[in-house]
Amino acid sequence: MSNVELTDKHTLRERARQHVEDGAVTEGYSADREKIIQLLNESLATELVCVLRYKRHYFMASGIKAAAAADEFLEHATQEAEHADKLAERIVQLGGEPDFNPDNLSKNSHAQYVAGNSLKEMVLEDLVAERIAVDSYREIIQYIGESDPTTRRIFEDILAQEEEHADDMADLLKGL
Ligand SMILES: [Fe+2]
Ligand SMILES: [Fe+2]
Repeated sequence: MSNVELTDKHTLRERARQHVEDGAVTEGYSADREKIIQLLNESLATELVCVLRYKRHYFMASGIKAAAAADEFLEHATQEAEHADKLAERIVQLGGEPDFNPDNLSKNSHAQYVAGNSLKEMVLEDLVAERIAVDSYREIIQYIGESDPTTRRIFEDILAQEEEHADDMADLLKGL
């Protein structure tokens, strides 16, 4: 048994009727909402920068006839865009506003946009960006702890895919 105290049904029902304008955010939400929204927006910026970088690499690699790498770049670009959507959706659920302003993206992103000239440079920069994402998402998950299980699960799902991405890039790099 954990030492969590369960709220009785009457109190739960009463509480749910108060502040209905807060939507999914209830009184039992124990996280620092502003901080969580900020972390979500920084991560959204990271994902959007990664979409742009992978798109650039996809089109450039297509030009230099590196078909296998190009396929990976395109798949990752698509998945980073899905990550961005999940983060933006969660920001809105928490009553915040997702920041899609291009002027803020590289400033807020954890990972960098590096154009990359050779295929090897592109793959290396993608691997570095994935490793940055892995580390920052792992930290965010630890920071959230038990305070916001839904946001934590979103980050856990994304983290698992970033680890796959890093692995893909490491494999590609070995062949170059
Ligand atoms: Fe991602
Ligand atoms: Fe990724």
